[in-house]
Amino acid sequence: MNVLVVGQGGREHALCWKLRQSPLCKRLFCAPGNPGTAMVADNVDIGVEDIAGLVRFAIQEKIDLTVVGPEGPLCAGIVDEFQKHKLLCFGPNKAAAEIEGSKVFARELCRRHRIPGPSFWVYDELMIARSFLANRPDGPLVVKASGLAAGKGVTVCKNNEEAQVAITECLEKRRFGEAGGTVVFEEFLEGHEISLITLTDGRTIVPFEPARDHKAVFDGDKGPNTGGMGVITPVPILPRLAVQIESQIICPTVHAMNRENRRYHGFLYAGLMMTPQGPRVLEYNCRLGDPETQPLMMRLQSDLLPLLLAATEGKLETMEAPVWDKRVAVCVVVASGGYPGEFKKGAPIFGLDRIVMGPDLQVFHAGTAKRLGGDLVTDGGRVLGVTALGDDAEAARARAYAAIKQIEFIGMHYRTDIGAKA
Ligand code: AMP
Ligand code: GLY
Repeated sequence: MNVLVVGQGGREHALCWKLRQSPLCKRLFCAPGNPGTAMVADNVDIGVEDIAGLVRFAIQEKIDLTVVGPEGPLCAGIVDEFQKHKLLCFGPNKAAAEIEGSKVFARELCRRHRIPGPSFWVYDELMIARSFLANRPDGPLVVKASGLAAGKGVTVCKNNEEAQVAITECLEKRRFGEAGGTVVFEEFLEGHEISLITLTDGRTIVPFEPARDHKAVFDGDKGPNTGGMGVITPVPILPRLAVQIESQIICPTVHAMNRENRRYHGFLYAGLMMTPQGPRVLEYNCRLGDPETQPLMMRLQSDLLPLLLAATEGKLETMEAPVWDKRVAVCVVVASGGYPGEFKKGAPIFGLDRIVMGPDLQVFHAGTAKRLGGDLVTDGGRVLGVTALGDDAEAARARAYAAIKQIEFIGMHYRTDIGAKA
């Protein structure tokens, strides 16, 4: 098969790395890709938002399956466009992707179908939102821009004063543009977080192994939220809770989407808070997580390609459950200093050649670029995802952090506690 992966982050490098190992995969392309994907696939210079260009390329190169990584093109309707041209494209269509594209839609879906989540309130007028805050007892509250904001639209506020600042940023200063034109206030939930990614075709669900993301930029979960600074998988979940998550959250969500004529094909990512009252939905994403994908792909022993194909064609029920490496995988993100705020690009990256990669250790590229002379430089907030397998969390951590010690660039920052609580 000829396969096209759409995206340019660490998630797409891990996807390409995994798909390259499939005996079914003949030619593999990545659009636009990065220097990491270039090692395992042919990069194509077409941006993720250029849907017409991607369709043309898929026709021209006889692509049998296109796999879309990021939410942007999914929410913009890339799957619908490919379908119009009778091309197979893995992922939810525009109507189904709204589960991530609109937090208001996602919250109301939960309310309509009694899927457990925090209490929430929706506002699009600053004055009315202000008066809501003025009339509630002071305390923690979560403020979210309703639309897509690259993982930065959520502010966990300690009190009403912080919430006032957050809504001003959204509704008045339009920090997230249209995406922040509507805000959702959410009850602040406490507990352990897990990311549960499920592959589905709207009828059959194939839950992937649970993972834990580390969203805050600094050790000890301090500092602002990022797209994710590191992940550990698996996360031990009591069997009783796993059943509860499936029966109270995942199945009802897939079913709810069917009932609302938004049949879901693709990866459904549920960000869950394990509260004393049970699991609660913090968010849905319409795609694989980044960096969750990196350690999950290292643990996935089954061929990914037939699973993606089956989900696209609505034939998941015919597939065997995937087999996972029992070991623990840890991915530590190496970022540019200043991320998720402002940061510099173009710093030369040293030391990758000193790292011996193999099935137990991979350095996935996210925000990197090649200079004209061939030097590798930083080109984004999250630069690399150093991903390692080990017999337990300590062993996986030790392997990942030993590799990171070899890497150097100006301003380099990473958390030292990824997976430490496991
Ligand atoms: P989201 O992108 O909606 O998952 O939010 C990003 C992060 O903010 C989550 O991973 C949580 O750590 C935190 N968060 C989101 N919603 C809530 C909530 N209702 N209560 C507590 N923390 C939350
Ligand atoms: N790592 C969280 C996300 O992909 O949304």
